Amino acid sequence: MDKLLIQGGVSLSGEIRAAGAKNSALPILAATLLTDETVKISNLPHLYDITTMLELLGSMGIEPMLDETLTVEVNASTVSKLSAPYALVKTMRASILVLGPMLAHFGQAEVALPGGCAIGSRPVNLHIQALQKMGANIVVEDGYIKASVDGRLKGARIFFDLVTVTGTENVLMAATLADGQTIIENAAKEPEVVDLANCLIAMGAEIKGHGTDTIVVNGKPRLHGCSYSVMPDRIETGTYLIAAAATRGRVRVKDTVPGTLEAVLLKLEEAGAQIQVGEDWIELDMHGKRPKAVSLRTAPHPAFPTDMQAQFAAMNAVASGVGIITETVFENRFMHVHEMNRMGASMQVQGNTVTITGVPTLRGAPVMATDLRASASLVIAGLVADNETLVDRIYHIDRGYECIEEKMQLLGARIRRLP
Ligand code: UD1
Repeated sequence: MDKLLIQGGVSLSGEIRAAGAKNSALPILAATLLTDETVKISNLPHLYDITTMLELLGSMGIEPMLDETLTVEVNASTVSKLSAPYALVKTMRASILVLGPMLAHFGQAEVALPGGCAIGSRPVNLHIQALQKMGANIVVEDGYIKASVDGRLKGARIFFDLVTVTGTENVLMAATLADGQTIIENAAKEPEVVDLANCLIAMGAEIKGHGTDTIVVNGKPRLHGCSYSVMPDRIETGTYLIAAAATRGRVRVKDTVPGTLEAVLLKLEEAGAQIQVGEDWIELDMHGKRPKAVSLRTAPHPAFPTDMQAQFAAMNAVASGVGIITETVFENRFMHVHEMNRMGASMQVQGNTVTITGVPTLRGAPVMATDLRASASLVIAGLVADNETLVDRIYHIDRGYECIEEKMQLLGARIRRLP
């Protein structure tokens, strides 16, 4: 199992390019199941989760054609097996995204029921209820969600009790081929939902209101092929900026979209960073200063993203003052806290809140990655520690961060991968 060895104490400095967004690329790859024509997708990130999604499409009888620039052509006319097996779903919960498109296009779908994960129970009941409201017959048996529909799905009024990102995406995709109008209320407003909607529109779908909490879709009998470029990854961008702030450095991230990171940039400014933005770049400069601790509360977009909470905890660990982080999206997303305390941080968890009192420096230690974003926070903690940190189980990082050690090295970090 690969590990990352980090020798801390270097201020990050330099320029990197943001990869394509994982959370946008995954639903867009699933959306290729909605048409018999070829969909060409570019700016895919080079990540383990993307490989898993391509493998999933492959297991259904599709042969995605990937070139060296990470552009993929998918033609779903060869689908022969309408099933997402447990072996793949257990490694990537986002496999649930094939449920809506498969059902809408082929009238049938079987997807293994995702289990709990390191950050909470994460049920998919809202996906299932919404598709049932659109006329699907769904049973959960033998560990599988088994769905079918006679003829086409029917447009419906869907109200989500909770804001769910992949739930909104599943229903949005299904609605593009439904008979009649679907109105999705309390929809997720995340930029990745907007990116998916724009790709679906390029495939001929009729969608309005994406990016607001009410999305209206007029179903079409069929969609067609298109070429689409995935938006840049805002979470990856934010992670490198936070790493720069924590190490008192200066970093520019290119090929990104500053408008998708407003809540995060405001918090970085509050921490004392000077932020400059251009049309497609963001530069953060700490002018060598120690960051100030910030308090934040996670919530659905446009509020502060849960996927960036752990990285801020790492920055707060070595900041001046006290920062309070409240997690409202997932029930158990503080696993990184206990690892950072082993490195000398002063963090106290109470319910869904962690109080962090900044210390001058952390001490490197062997630590264990537990989920994707928590692992990124441990890398940041390693960068600010004053000796060696060994991060174990970094397959979590490879699911969502493209070549993290190479990008960190470009910024001057002393980090290397060990087998
Ligand atoms: C997506 C993102 C993930 C991010 C999360 C929240 C992808 C592939 N993943 O995950 O990186 O952290 O949004 O921004 O885009 N819930 C239910 N029932 C459901 C669905 C969700 O109770 O049927 C709950 C979840 O347990 C959670 C909350 O709703 O507490 C939000 O989860 P959701 O937005 O669905 O997260 P994902 O779409 O899985």
